[in-house]
This record gives sequence, structure tokens and C-alpha cells, in this order.
Amino acid sequence: MARVLRPKDRDVTAERLLDSSMRNAYDPDVDIDWDAPLVEGKGFMPEERVSLYGTPLWDRLTPSQRLELAKHEIGSITSVGLWTEIVLMQLLARYAADLDPRSPHTHYALTEIGDETRHAIMFGKGIARLGLPAYGPPRVVRLPAKLFGAVIGGPAMFASVLVVEETTDRLQRSMLDDESIQPMIRMINRIHVVEEARHVRYAREELVRGLTSLRGPALELHRLVTALVAYAVINVLVHPGVYAAVGLDPREARAVALTNPHHRESRRWMAEKIVAFLTEVGMIGGPSKRIWQKAYLL
Ligand SMILES: [Fe+2]
Ligand SMILES: [Fe+2]
Repeated sequence: MARVLRPKDRDVTAERLLDSSMRNAYDPDVDIDWDAPLVEGKGFMPEERVSLYGTPLWDRLTPSQRLELAKHEIGSITSVGLWTEIVLMQLLARYAADLDPRSPHTHYALTEIGDETRHAIMFGKGIARLGLPAYGPPRVVRLPAKLFGAVIGGPAMFASVLVVEETTDRLQRSMLDDESIQPMIRMINRIHVVEEARHVRYAREELVRGLTSLRGPALELHRLVTALVAYAVINVLVHPGVYAAVGLDPREARAVALTNPHHRESRRWMAEKIVAFLTEVGMIGGPSKRIWQKAYLL
């Protein structure tokens, strides 16, 4: 990825991505059997990725409480992911508005908005099907995101998008071949993993192109924005309400999760690939690197 990508390559990549989108796309409305009953005893996410896994609090939960907590956690993570996709649609729409409408690069940006629209509906249906609350991020994150969606562009935008897409992608990928997970969740993950791979390619290349002319205070600003997005999103993935859903004190359980070495390791694991990439291209570095450490992503 360290090679230099020129603007004309944009359309070459976009042509490939458009072609792949045409050949390999899903319609969650028909590709997922929304009426199929859940499978008794199957899980909702890998146990070892649940935020309390390995703590004394976890040990005290019954098997059915653990299953229920996993269901609420995946629901919370999904609801935050869904919300970030809507913010991403706003970013991409603003981005595409200023591009040449004749170019494949623009067409792919618009195609991606279409993908994210279907994903957001798919995730919303999944959360409803599991009978879960619409957790989502707290107001303290929603409000600045309105401003973020309206003004951010360039490398900080593509890097932020990648952080969200690639961290959740890692978790979803780990469930694809896991027979112990509910089939509906595996199918949602499969659809998402296939389509996100294209989004990741698009954003990674565009980020590299944008970075070639970025240095000094401007680079630090883009790094800072990306670090803050990573910090904010990773911290709100698990809503404290998930603990209350299994009868735990939300404050206490959240505090336990944040100091849980397994959970910290899961965060690092989720971010591992994107952190390596952003470090390689120079998007992680300088003073804002500390924020990544504070979020347990480094
Ligand atoms: Fe998506
Ligand atoms: Fe995406």
C-alpha cells in the first residue's frame, strides 16, 4: 500500500469494484429468511468476545444469562454500526456531490451509499428480530457526529470510516464459520463482510491518495480527528444497558469490562489490521497516538 496511487487509478479501482458489486451483491430482504425461528442453544457472538468474559462477574452468570448478555452486546454493537453507516451515507453524499458525475469513482461512491442503505435496514431488522432495544450511541456522541458528518472530508473521513468498518468486520468475520452462532446472524455477517471488503478497498486507496499532499499541522489535525472517532466509537459499542438486561448493575459491570484484560485484548484484536494499516500510511502517529492507547486499540 505504500506505493503512490495517482488520481487516474481511482477509476480503474472503481470499475473493478462496480463490476464486483454487480456480480456479487445481496438483497437482505430476500436473501435472509426473517421468519425463520432462532435456533435453541445457539449463540449470538463468540463468548470470548463478550465484554465481561473471564471476569468474576461472568463466572457468576448462568449459561442462559451469558447467552442473553451476548445477544444484547451484539445488538448494541450492531446498533452503533448501523448508526455509523447512516453518518457514512451523509459523508459519502457530500463527497460525491462535488465529484464528476461521469466518473466510475463517483458511481462507486453512490453504489456504496446504496449498500449502506441496505445494510442499515438489514441490521435494523436483525435487532428487531432478536427483540432487542435500539441501543445506539449516547447523545454525547450523536451530537458531535452531526457536525462531523457535515464538515469532515479527506483523509480524516476515509480513515474514520475504515476504523469503524474494519473493526466490526473483524468480529463479523470470526463468526462466518462458527457453527455455534445463530444462522441468521451468520448470514447477516456474510452479506456484510462481502460488501464491506469493497468499501474498505475504496477507502484505503482514497486515503493513501489524500495523504500524499498532507503534512505538518494539517496531518496532525486529520490524525487527531481519526483518533477521536476511534476512541468515541470503540467506547460506545457496548451500551451499559446490556448489563442491566441480565440483572447486573450497569455502572459496576461497565467498570469491570473496562478493566477486563480479555476485553482490552478483544479491542486490540478488532483494531489490529486497521491500526497496522493506518500506522504504515502515517495516519497514526504524533501526539494523537496517545488517544489510541487510551482506547486500548494500540
Ligand atoms: Fe455496511
Ligand atoms: Fe461500508
